[in-house]
Amino acid sequence: MSKRISLTQYLIEQQRGEAQIPSQLRLLIEVVARACKSIAISVNKGALGEVLGTAGSENVQGEVQKKLDIIANEVLIEANEWGGHLAAMASEEMEGIYLVPNRYPQGEYLLLFDPLDGSSNIDVNVSIGTIFSVLKKPEGSGVSEQDFLQAGAKQVAAGYCVYGPQTTLVLTVGDGVAMFTFDREQGSFVLTQENVRIPEDTKEFAINMSNMRHWDAPIKRYVDECLAGTTGPRGKDFNMRWIASMVADVHRILTRGGIFMYPWDQREPGKPGKLRLMYEANPMGWIVEQAGGAASNGHQRILDIQPSQLYERVSVILGSKNEVERINAYHAASAQQQR
Ligand code: AHG
Ligand code: MN
Ligand code: MN
Repeated sequence: MSKRISLTQYLIEQQRGEAQIPSQLRLLIEVVARACKSIAISVNKGALGEVLGTAGSENVQGEVQKKLDIIANEVLIEANEWGGHLAAMASEEMEGIYLVPNRYPQGEYLLLFDPLDGSSNIDVNVSIGTIFSVLKKPEGSGVSEQDFLQAGAKQVAAGYCVYGPQTTLVLTVGDGVAMFTFDREQGSFVLTQENVRIPEDTKEFAINMSNMRHWDAPIKRYVDECLAGTTGPRGKDFNMRWIASMVADVHRILTRGGIFMYPWDQREPGKPGKLRLMYEANPMGWIVEQAGGAASNGHQRILDIQPSQLYERVSVILGSKNEVERINAYHAASAQQQR
């Protein structure tokens, strides 16, 4: 058997090599990975662990919270608050930012997370995940919500863990994308793929088709052309997948290519999209870019968007590069026509 490389060894090598990640960042990533192991164990227990169903509360964005949303949030906070590597955290499930309590040392990093992504899949035993993004705290004393409002291009680490048939941690520190599979017997994440690359072309798209009548013209055009298959302008047949867990859809794209879209639509015209910029679109966008793909809102690179609030939503189009560029071109053409 070839030599197994653990997450710890990989990170120490990253610390020494090109990426030169600081030891505090390595510690942070290891702590998040440890929290993900603990969440994976709760997820696996399912009904036996009394973790299914709703918690009977709503989060700051008015979404009904599942028990696992809250459990995963608490696991991530408890794991991360005492290590000295963080100044503050922000999560989909908490209002405002969470400052590291005074009794612990303060670090220089900011951690953002979607503790449990794909919550509607928890009770039906379909893949779900955790998404995280790490930023550096700007210089100066204290920490405020404003410090979090940095464009995705400023991230220093991003990753997700998918709780599926296997538990897989996917990570970037700006030096490509690596995947680690959780070895339950050993209790550790083992490197199973390095230099992940997303093919530039694809014949697979992911979108919630039930919203079709609400889409904007460029998205309608793109999907219509995919559906037209070999007889249409694309001259090839497309396949469709929609897992309703962004982590699981993105994981498929990293594995075999494809395009994921959750665009703005007319259901709530004032809302820029469904997915959240800071702890869904930015980390996933950076991972996809690091694997040779692209991520945009149709008009602009996701990572260039300057956030104006923590819970900001955004239109998301990401995956195989040539397809994302095609959809960007359809948006540009449509804007040109309207002029
Ligand atoms: P969350 O469970 O964190 O609220 O995120 C769910 C997101 C995303 O994972 C998924 O792609 C999308 O919502 C599914 O939305 P629909 O149910 O509208 O298809
Ligand atoms: Mn989510
Ligand atoms: Mn969530």
